[in-house]
Amino acid sequence: MEEVKKKIETLRNEIENYNRQYYDLFQPVISDFEFDQKLKELEKLEREYPHYADPNSPTQRVGSDLSKNFVQVEHLYPMLSLSNTYSEGEITDFYNRVKKALNEEFEIVCELKYDGTSISLIYENGSLVRAITRGDGTRGDDVIANVRTIQSIPLKLSESDYPDFFEIRGEILLPWAAFDKLNEEREEAGEPLFANPRNAAAGTLKTQNPQIVAQRKLDSYLYYLLGEKLPCDGHFENLEKAKTWGFKISTAIKKCKTLEEVFEYIRFWDKERKSLPVATDGIVLKVNSSKQQLNLGWTSKSPRWAIAYKFQAESAETRLLSVDFQVGRVGTITPVANLEPVLLSGTIVKRASLHNEDIINKFDVHIGDLCSVEKGGEIIPKITGVNKAFRTQAGEKVKFIEYCPACGAKLIRPEGEAAHYCPNHFDCAPQIKGMMEHFVSRKAMNINAGEETISLFYDAGLAKNVADLYVIQMEDILKLDRWGEKSAANFLESLEISKQVPYDRVLYALGIRFAGETVAKRLVKAFPTIEELMNAGYEQLIAVDEIGEVIARSVLDYFSIESNCELVRRLKEQGLQFALGEKVLAGRTDVLKGKTFVISGVFTEHSRDEYKELIEKNGGKNTGSISAKTDFVLAGENMGPAKLEKAQKLGIKIISEFEFLAMI
Ligand code: IVH
Repeated sequence: MEEVKKKIETLRNEIENYNRQYYDLFQPVISDFEFDQKLKELEKLEREYPHYADPNSPTQRVGSDLSKNFVQVEHLYPMLSLSNTYSEGEITDFYNRVKKALNEEFEIVCELKYDGTSISLIYENGSLVRAITRGDGTRGDDVIANVRTIQSIPLKLSESDYPDFFEIRGEILLPWAAFDKLNEEREEAGEPLFANPRNAAAGTLKTQNPQIVAQRKLDSYLYYLLGEKLPCDGHFENLEKAKTWGFKISTAIKKCKTLEEVFEYIRFWDKERKSLPVATDGIVLKVNSSKQQLNLGWTSKSPRWAIAYKFQAESAETRLLSVDFQVGRVGTITPVANLEPVLLSGTIVKRASLHNEDIINKFDVHIGDLCSVEKGGEIIPKITGVNKAFRTQAGEKVKFIEYCPACGAKLIRPEGEAAHYCPNHFDCAPQIKGMMEHFVSRKAMNINAGEETISLFYDAGLAKNVADLYVIQMEDILKLDRWGEKSAANFLESLEISKQVPYDRVLYALGIRFAGETVAKRLVKAFPTIEELMNAGYEQLIAVDEIGEVIARSVLDYFSIESNCELVRRLKEQGLQFALGEKVLAGRTDVLKGKTFVISGVFTEHSRDEYKELIEKNGGKNTGSISAKTDFVLAGENMGPAKLEKAQKLGIKIISEFEFLAMI
């Protein structure tokens, strides 16, 4: 039983990490296939052991791409994903399930599964009024300014037989050619490359500058019409109509009456898709009739009337030129093969992962070998085998390195694991940078600094660890290339605001292995101050609900290292929160004396009622509506537009919850 619990915990942590890499950093570290396998494994365990269910488990959400810089809007219809399958057998199962449930004739629409980023477009009286990303499936970011720059998306519709109000969903894509060009430019500028067109499209859609978006030449395919008054019952027929209004609808869409026709479609496009200008990663099957769709219904995560069939990875053969060893954020060493360039699913592949020492030995890889390379739809390609029959000019056998290529430390390979690690977590540049990136990230300290900024500060000697960030001065930053006063002030302000980030997020930000967001919350509840946590022993730790051996050991390991304790001490001195909010906020003050507040919107740190209480506890006054007497509007997400306008008109200061918390 303990074993199962631990397995569940480990999977949840791993998946949370992958989600973070994918949605926040646009840099996935595993393929979709592997991710789906992990998620499926976790789902299965949670089904078999329902008493370990957790509403915060990654199985309970679709993954979020919400950013703080856009207005967030609730979806009129939740934006769900599709259940995925990789086998033809499961397609047959799906077909039979539908047949049995409907017990009448039906048609299946086959479509390509475009591999971009999904978007929901809303049209009112023929004009585009909103363009919302998927977000967490319930709420997304309105990125309309960026979407307006995409040529294939109509801003005003042609014809006139469209409903007054409707939504159309689809995929925003970066065509292969534009993707390659973009990465070439980024390589020249020394910027990190996008792993695949999907991440490039998602990243582009989230930039704050529509001009950049316009330059990148995004494209779109729309595949789902929603609304109260749609022209037809059939999904296929609705899309044909939408085409006449000016939307880009794929010509690869086909209505099938039999399972045989469905398989024909799949086999045809599995080959043909390679010559398409955009990335596709599978086929989507949908029951055509809206009435029948309604009959079949939805699960909490996906419709029962649709399914996605994912293509198997494509492979090619090419020669191995040399091998590099890369150091990841947690010290993992990845052997990377440099290859003779080869065309694979539309992109030129020059590098591929060689996994680990065991695989290198198993394949008996030599420089000059002819290797098979595979791409799981996207992400970093992998070497999947060596063709020894063609070992003509065999060079040296590839050997795993013993010392870290970045810092020179002797590598370790923990028992039972396949990966090598650099243990020098505090003195190895790629690892320190990785930890710092995690620390500043949105879900952690939410500091205005990305990967490039961290790297720049580190290389310039301004910050060698996260505590150093808090002593950076304006004049230090201004000495750096391309930094102006405004961006420096933004960064410094976000540092100041981060001092109010609650204890559980600070703990998460420290980057203790296996201490993801949920674990950090649990630890903070059990140990309301950092001192209590630092002094906790193994028994005390595993006594906490959902804290198992792996996490307990990791916490103990972390605090057994003097430099970590020193880091915590420095951060505490600098004013970061290392105690549970309630304790800090228990006392009453009169810092808000004479100040009148209006609260509007939705908050993440405390509920509206808690904020009301906090205002009163600190001597301030709450009122319901904005007037000239209001001093501050405490604004959460989704503040009403009327309130916003009024506050702006009267020149009333609008503050975020973090600014408010900083005030008290
Ligand atoms: S239909 C309720 N059709 O795949 C059904 N999705 O995992 C909504 N996608 O989030 C989706 N091509 O981003 C649909 N032809 C297609 C698609 C497609 C790509 C994406 C979409 C969705 C994901 C499903």
